[in-house]
Amino acid sequence: MNNLLKGKRGIIFGALDQKSIAWKTALKAREQGASFTLTNAPIAIRMGAINDLAKACDAEVIAADATSIEDLTALFQQSMEVLGGKLDFVLHSIGMSPNVRKKKPYGDLNYEWFQKTLDISAISFHKVLQTAEKTDAMNEWGSVLGLSYIAAQRAYPDYSDMAQAKAVLESIARSYGQRFGRLKKVRVNTISQSPTVTTAGEGVGGFDVFLDYAEMMSPLGNASAEDCANYCVLMFSDLSRMVTMQNLMHDGGFSTSGITEELVEKLSKG
Ligand code: NAI
Repeated sequence: MNNLLKGKRGIIFGALDQKSIAWKTALKAREQGASFTLTNAPIAIRMGAINDLAKACDAEVIAADATSIEDLTALFQQSMEVLGGKLDFVLHSIGMSPNVRKKKPYGDLNYEWFQKTLDISAISFHKVLQTAEKTDAMNEWGSVLGLSYIAAQRAYPDYSDMAQAKAVLESIARSYGQRFGRLKKVRVNTISQSPTVTTAGEGVGGFDVFLDYAEMMSPLGNASAEDCANYCVLMFSDLSRMVTMQNLMHDGGFSTSGITEELVEKLSKG
């Protein structure tokens, strides 16, 4: 299908390198006719490869720390100027936990870092939505997406305080979705993605095991970053216009599998 996003304008957060889900989404969105600005934290822009992506997508890069209302306000205003109008979609593809990064055990969390995890990975989603509302940046039927993980609902030992962050993220999608829907028919959802090989993903302890286990527990296998990018495009398009306040499972069937034949075979003793 072509031109699903023709004439649509947006902001894509979180493209660090070629592996990033946001990177793949930017390429797909461009392919489908969208125009957008790309943004990331200033340090990620310096260390990453976002300028290559910007060239490929004919997009402008605007630095913004997603925890700063000042940065976000400038980002939304500049994006509308650069793109020539209000926005139709926003992708929040942001996650970081200092406790995970520094391998703090869950029984010995650093609480300042815990606050940072929540601020960067969850509360920033509220800040993005609130700034979009206050700058009156969204067109009617616009679509705002965050990316989540099933650790919001179930315990995974090494996901640590990111599990709490994802639970808050999903809750914000419901609460803000209700508000923004009534105010301006703007849709707010989260996509709960399979484990994916990216910088953020690989930072989680035991990630390879996660990945293999999820692969075996998913009848369709793990959803790739590219699959996720396609789903994001669908969610930005008019084909999904009545979907809001949802946490959408994008996991090859993982979340509703009890056990699979593959795992039974692998674990059977006979
Ligand atoms: P990634 O490491 O490529 O992307 C994370 C992005 O967050 C980076 O671009 C980073 O610069 C940005 N970021 C961190 N702090 C920021 C700040 N203060 N302001 C603005 N941006 C900031 O990894 P990935 O996997 O593409 O992550 C994207 C989203 O997908 C995250 O929300 C992640 O939790 C989620 N997700 C990832 C899964 C995985 O296994 N990789 C599975 C399920 C969800």
